[in-house]
Amino acid sequence: MRVLGLETSCDETSIALLVDETIVANTVYTQDIHAAFGGVVPEIASRAHLQKIDRLCSAILLENGLTPRDLDLIAVTDSPGLAGALLVGISFALGLHCSYSLPITGVNHLEGHIASVMLEHTNLDFPFLALVVSGGHTAIYRVDDFGVYERLGRTIDDAAGEAFDKIGKLLGFSYPSGRDIEKQAALHTAGESIRFPVARVSTGEFDFSFSGLKTAVKYFLNDHDAGYKRENMPLICHSFQKAVTDSLVKNIASAATATGLQRIALVGGVACNNFLRRKMQDAFAGNVYFPSPGLCTDNGAMIAKAGYENFKRKKCRFPVMRPSGAL
Ligand code: KG4
Ligand code: ZN
Repeated sequence: MRVLGLETSCDETSIALLVDETIVANTVYTQDIHAAFGGVVPEIASRAHLQKIDRLCSAILLENGLTPRDLDLIAVTDSPGLAGALLVGISFALGLHCSYSLPITGVNHLEGHIASVMLEHTNLDFPFLALVVSGGHTAIYRVDDFGVYERLGRTIDDAAGEAFDKIGKLLGFSYPSGRDIEKQAALHTAGESIRFPVARVSTGEFDFSFSGLKTAVKYFLNDHDAGYKRENMPLICHSFQKAVTDSLVKNIASAATATGLQRIALVGGVACNNFLRRKMQDAFAGNVYFPSPGLCTDNGAMIAKAGYENFKRKKCRFPVMRPSGAL
């Protein structure tokens, strides 16, 4: 079974080829152009996808001695994401579908992130809890099967990755800043940290809020001069990273107690963070499963995997634009 996975929901144009559930290709083109603007510019993202998608697809097929006729399924991210960026992937997929009569399925981006963990951890049994932490989303799901999800909590304002990116901007790092903040934080070896507050949320027991933390760090930076910030960059980064991590671990631990589920999948771009990975493993005695970094950030392989599982269960659907956060 040859599945082509297309991901264009934000600033990565990614196409993957899954053959009998093995990743044969997973090309990710990251649109660096957004760094100059300090965040993703939707219109630029759409154009950049348009410039790349055809070439990436042709290269993958050529390298593997295939033509579109040899494919068995097209899986494409259909929501949530930037409307124009999604449309490029969906239109491209529909083009292949119409030209070659290929089956096609739309995949929810968050479902893709959840499926990403199963690409490498094939022994992860249902049910489990998934902590999805990315630049656009932060949420906890109970996962009973592919396609069977219950959202237990979510951020009511900024996503965890968004908080990393916004603080990174204040600290002078370029977008996206998660990796740079982690690198700086790793240089902090002493035990102490600045106590940045994370807001308690009243909307739901497992909900998150990171916008107050962002404001607290901003005020802290305003109150200190450039020399202090330069000398204490590792301490500031560590303290911010610790505040985000503590909040994530606290809520997923509460959700695990409430549901009795102690198997956890940690997915999405922020799941690359080694401090978070360590703290999660400590909290769940090693029962945390995460994809390798290339599969944590946006990629076509996770979309191909989720699409394939839907196809197997006859849950294929055509791409439809739904309001963001439908999963
Ligand atoms: O999943 P993803 O590629 O895109 C979305 O679906 O949003 O996640 C991108 C996010 C960015 O906010 C980026 O700063 C963050 O993941 N990220 C990290 C790390 N690597 C990427 N955050 C913290 N630590 C990291 N090492
Ligand atoms: Zn993502």
